[in-house]
Amino acid sequence: MKLVADKVGYKYYRKNKKVLFELKETVLKPEEGKLTEIVGHSGSGKSTLLNICAGLLTPDTGHLLVGDKDLYSLSDEERSRFRNAHIGIIPQGQSVLKHLTVTENILLPISMYREDTPTNLLNELIENLGLKKLENEKAGGLSGGEMRRVAIARALIGKPEIILADEPTGDLDADNRKLVLTALKNIAGEGKTVLMVTHDREAEEYADKILKMDGGILI
Ligand SMILES: Nc1ncnc2c1ncn2[C@@H]1O[C@H](COP(=O)(O)OP(=O)(O)O)[C@@H](O)[C@H]1O
Ligand SMILES: [Mg+2]
Repeated sequence: MKLVADKVGYKYYRKNKKVLFELKETVLKPEEGKLTEIVGHSGSGKSTLLNICAGLLTPDTGHLLVGDKDLYSLSDEERSRFRNAHIGIIPQGQSVLKHLTVTENILLPISMYREDTPTNLLNELIENLGLKKLENEKAGGLSGGEMRRVAIARALIGKPEIILADEPTGDLDADNRKLVLTALKNIAGEGKTVLMVTHDREAEEYADKILKMDGGILI
């Protein structure tokens, strides 16, 4: 499924209407079957752009096209359902729910709108991401790398065609960085559209395409 950000722009304002930060009008067309990375310093606007692509932040200008849908022309309810069906999001930082088990965390997106548990896919993800021994553990006891792998499984359980990852290797050790980047590369290899933003320069060797964000401008 195609994701096209067509001249999306966004401004954060201070209370006195002064502009704090501006994401300049951006065109972005990550390809299907490729791992596209946006690199840039902290504060350059990477998360802002990714959140617009995720359907989580309504841009001031432009359109976000996913397949044949203009995401921000949908109602909130329609957009949530559409996102749940087609877009998997790996958020910045630790996003797992600590009082739930690994399996319960992974199944969260499914439990929102769908009733049947995809047992085969669940087991496959748990296996591939090295979570087998932890599947019934509470997520609160996991290491940072394990939590990130749970977040990846959670992003994939709904079989989304588009995966968006915000600093997925941030705060991970070398082994886990490699594991996470390999997983994202493999997902792209399955034909999905994978877009990640990062300031981890080592992640660049896994990318099929690298774009640079600087001061709210994508180069
Ligand atoms: N909710 C917000 N309100 C005001 N300013 C924000 C908000 N979110 C982010 N910013 C500012 O916008 C700029 C870009 O942020 P962000 O997109 O998170 O950058 P990055 O992900 O590259 O670190 C930063 O200067 C940040 O402080
Ligand atoms: Mg960020």
